[in-house]
Amino acid sequence: MTEILVTGGLGYIGSHCCVALMEAGYTPVVVDNLSNSSPTTLDRMQQISGVRPKFHKADVRDGGALDRIFAKHRFAAVIHFGALKAVGESVAKPLDYYDNNVGGTLTLIGAMLRAGLKKMIFSSSATVYGQAATVPIREDFPRSATNPYGRSKLIAEDILEDLSLADGGWRIARLRYFNPVGAHESGLIGENPKGVPNNLLPFICDVAAAHRDHLAIFGGDYSTPDGTGIRDYIHVMDLVEGHLAALRFLNERPGLLTVNLGTGKGISVLEMVRTFERVTGCDIPYRVTGRRPGDVGECWADPTLAHHILGWRAHRTLDDICLDAWRWRSLESTSFL
Ligand code: NAD
Ligand code: UFG
Repeated sequence: MTEILVTGGLGYIGSHCCVALMEAGYTPVVVDNLSNSSPTTLDRMQQISGVRPKFHKADVRDGGALDRIFAKHRFAAVIHFGALKAVGESVAKPLDYYDNNVGGTLTLIGAMLRAGLKKMIFSSSATVYGQAATVPIREDFPRSATNPYGRSKLIAEDILEDLSLADGGWRIARLRYFNPVGAHESGLIGENPKGVPNNLLPFICDVAAAHRDHLAIFGGDYSTPDGTGIRDYIHVMDLVEGHLAALRFLNERPGLLTVNLGTGKGISVLEMVRTFERVTGCDIPYRVTGRRPGDVGECWADPTLAHHILGWRAHRTLDDICLDAWRWRSLESTSFL
């Protein structure tokens, strides 16, 4: 029984990661403060895996609580998802983002040191590349931040780098996610944003579910083949499988690993809309509006390093992504009736 501490393990990516960990024979132990998740996700994870993950309701900024949790378990590693992630909110509430995302990471590292554990996988983001000059984006591209959320990830990345330089015993993976989308194929867990979704695929699902009458496409005048923005959408199950590969890698060698987790394929907003319509049979009315402030035209990964070092690559298709997102959304809607 290899126990892995998963902070933010009831959130979107964390819950999928726990399912993948259980399938691979690990025992995930979730620490989550429920600020953006619900304990009912534990029931869903149990339905999928046949096992209920262990859960501690706690905040990663609470060192005392973390010490008590570390005393109850023998963790082999920590996967640190627990953070705030809304770009717009981070501009309005920067201190919350530095407190949760930087302070939380520091407090967690402190508890790990006290427990004698030096193996961590950290959720970073393509946001650390800021406005990259070219695509595809490689790990050695310059980093910058355009908002407090992005800066909190940059600072946490730097803290982890300094830590690994100061103490060669640490094994750290900084995984830079591109655009995680889709849901577990069971339709039992997925992304559940509160209020109006900011992200493209949850918004498309809202339109398909007739909760909104149309999608606003933010910009039709980018220098891309159809004029709409291009992103690297990665199925959340491919993404979490990248974490298992990183865990295996860290078991083999100490040091600092920094890799992109993306597909290497850019998809435009219009391609996403058309694929969703084709595979689900739903109509997605849309209107092309002005650009969203802060958006870049193109952002997609060069995932060569992850394949080379981890032997990992994303293999699920855009059809899978749309079908799985819609299955989750459809089941979730009916469960509210
Ligand atoms: P999410 O909000 O669905 O999950 C985060 C979970 O962490 C939630 O369950 C929340 O309750 C918990 N949490 C937040 N602050 C906490 C704290 N202080 N203590 C304990 N638990 C806390 O988000 P997600 O999409 O699953 O993202 C997971 C990680 O991946 C985050 O670090 C995020 O920044 C990063 N990331 C996400 C994306 C994306 O598009 N979803 C892209 C790049 C990076
Ligand atoms: N888009 C629309 N209409 C919408 C929503 C999005 O046209 O209603 C477009 C955007 O303009 C963009 C694309 O769809 O071209 C993807 O937008 P998302 O909001 O889904 O994703 P982003 O790439 O803008 O943002 C994501 C994460 C951020 C992270 C950023 C950079 O959500 O947290 O990637 O890594 F900071």
